[in-house]
Amino acid sequence: MAMVRPLQLAAGVTLWREYFARPVQQEIVETVMRLAQSAPFYRPLMPKTANPFSVEETNFGPLGWLAEPGGYRYAPQHPVTGEPWPAIPDMLIEPWRSVAPFPQPPECCLVNLYRAGAKMGAHQDRDEDELGAPVVSVSLGDDAVFRFGGVTRKGPTQTVKLSSGDVLTFGGPSRLMFHGIARVIAASSDLVHGGGRINLTLRRVTKA
Ligand code: SIN
Ligand code: MN
Repeated sequence: MAMVRPLQLAAGVTLWREYFARPVQQEIVETVMRLAQSAPFYRPLMPKTANPFSVEETNFGPLGWLAEPGGYRYAPQHPVTGEPWPAIPDMLIEPWRSVAPFPQPPECCLVNLYRAGAKMGAHQDRDEDELGAPVVSVSLGDDAVFRFGGVTRKGPTQTVKLSSGDVLTFGGPSRLMFHGIARVIAASSDLVHGGGRINLTLRRVTKA
């Protein structure tokens, strides 16, 4: 993989621009879409309000992250098919090994599909027992405006544009930072068939 020099955006927040070259991005998108035939994208519901997310989601790996009216949780099976999630493809374990780096492998690869108009409100990734491992996030397709702040909702935020092939990690003092996608810039990439953006978020869930 491209050994580009990473950008330090904040303590514990690192961005590798174009970590994946275009042909590899294409291969990842094809793999994701093929796996999504057996683990289809679905629209999660917000806890309490049961409002649907604007993004569609699926997961790979032994544990998938679910949002349901009852709350957030990790589960070994797809909520619609009842089948175990597909394994995390090797090409996505590779960035975890080289940029995380955390001794245990990721257990969850959350797949977010942003079609026209989809975005994601500010939130923390805090449903994992293992907070010593960073979150590793891969962007594919349209550019996105990623906004992040500190570990409380208040305080200053930064925005950074995430483009296709970029890999972002947040860990250490920023593992519980608030973050979200303010908007996706439609048609800024032609990578994803049908348009939009795919985000792949790798996480360690259980303590080793
Ligand atoms: C997420 O925080 O789950 C997604 C972030 C992104 O789409 O880049
Ligand atoms: Mn998140």
